[in-house]
Amino acid sequence: MAQLWGGRFTKDTDRLVYNFNASISFDQKFFHQDVEGSIAHVVMLEKQGILTAEEKDAIVKGLTSIREDVDQGKLEITDEYEDVHSFVEANLISRIGDAGKKLHTGRSRNDQVALDMKLYTRAEVAAVDELLKELLTVVLDIMKANTETYMPGFTHLQKAQPITLAHHMGAYFEMFRRDRSRMQDIYKRMNYCPLGSGALAGTTYPLDRDYTASLLGFEGPTLNSMDSVADRDYVIEFLSALSTVMMHLSRFCEEIIIWNSNEYQFVEIDDAYSTGSSIMPQKKNPDIAELVRGKTGRVYGALMSILTTMKGIPLAYNKDMQEDKELTFDAIDTVKGCLALFTGMIRTMKFNEDIMAASAMNGFTNATDAADYLVNRGVPFRDAHSIIGKLVLTCIEKDKAIHEMTIEELKEISDVFEPDVFDAVSLKTCVEKRLTIGAPGPDAMNKVIALCEEYLKEK
Ligand code: ARG
Repeated sequence: MAQLWGGRFTKDTDRLVYNFNASISFDQKFFHQDVEGSIAHVVMLEKQGILTAEEKDAIVKGLTSIREDVDQGKLEITDEYEDVHSFVEANLISRIGDAGKKLHTGRSRNDQVALDMKLYTRAEVAAVDELLKELLTVVLDIMKANTETYMPGFTHLQKAQPITLAHHMGAYFEMFRRDRSRMQDIYKRMNYCPLGSGALAGTTYPLDRDYTASLLGFEGPTLNSMDSVADRDYVIEFLSALSTVMMHLSRFCEEIIIWNSNEYQFVEIDDAYSTGSSIMPQKKNPDIAELVRGKTGRVYGALMSILTTMKGIPLAYNKDMQEDKELTFDAIDTVKGCLALFTGMIRTMKFNEDIMAASAMNGFTNATDAADYLVNRGVPFRDAHSIIGKLVLTCIEKDKAIHEMTIEELKEISDVFEPDVFDAVSLKTCVEKRLTIGAPGPDAMNKVIALCEEYLKEK
């Protein structure tokens, strides 16, 4: 049990207490950030005349050698230490002696852990943003190739109006684009450096917090030392944004599972992204989509957990805050894994265009357009709605689609119908006439696609 704070104590810590309190099993995840923060700290201490150049050089060399040894597997991070901060400091002292004991001058583990967590989270925010961008690139490829691939659009999971695959994918493009903008907002808002806040009330040393902040790539230092060590808002914001990413992925997965079912057959998931059954030889299951959908709960759980942990904590640092790590790390790894797999799955997924188009042809997806046809010939919309309602009933009785009725049959319902109705209710017309921006008509869609391409080039 290697501890940094034994001086005041006369008894050893109880083993169970030690284990309960220790965080090394999980905070070693930000070992690199801990070393990076310590290097910036000592470089600043030397600039301010708090450490000599020799002391600074010895500490930086010592820290660099510890990092190298851990990276090369020569030095193991073990539970002999309470946390990753103790591990680094103890190893530094054993390597370079007394100079190592000066590393923690003007610093507390409270501002140290606040920094480490922030550095770690900041990098992960950027990594998730990058994965979202890759996903958007694949979504856009599918959009570009399918501006005239017809399919039914649904409300209540009932066929509603015909759309195109490009249009359907475009909805997800917008969702993931918003997810990216949330990442970029979080990055900007969190990018202030807590180091130099000490335990809670700053320090009496003449630290240059602006300098440390700039060394570590922050916009500047945080402006209240109490808040600096007690703030985990950025973790909450990140987990909230990750939960929204998972909610989007999960909805997409749900659709893919439905589309991949034997009843729909709109898509076929590639063999590389499907699994079989141990008993039923015919099966090819959409396990990846199901797992992504399932893992959404884990990420929501992490958000609820940290929100609950933080809600009753008085200022400033309290040990409760150590609970910010495990579930957050798990959530980040989960989302990154899900994004990577999901992107691969849709990149390789095959769309059965004929089946989609055939499905768009039945289910009366052109009923609104049939009503619009009558409206364009002077029938008030409410009357047109009622006439087409009767037409649909008749079609159901005759087991025919609207476009399969003869002009005589149509005229029995309303003599406003003329032979040009067949063109007006064709799948192609139904889609192509939807021309306002945001609608599925290929001309409108191509304009949106150009904007999406522009966006991906810029950001
Ligand atoms: N392991 C602690 C955490 O994760 C580090 C900070 C410890 N500070 C303290 N005063 N005990 O929050």
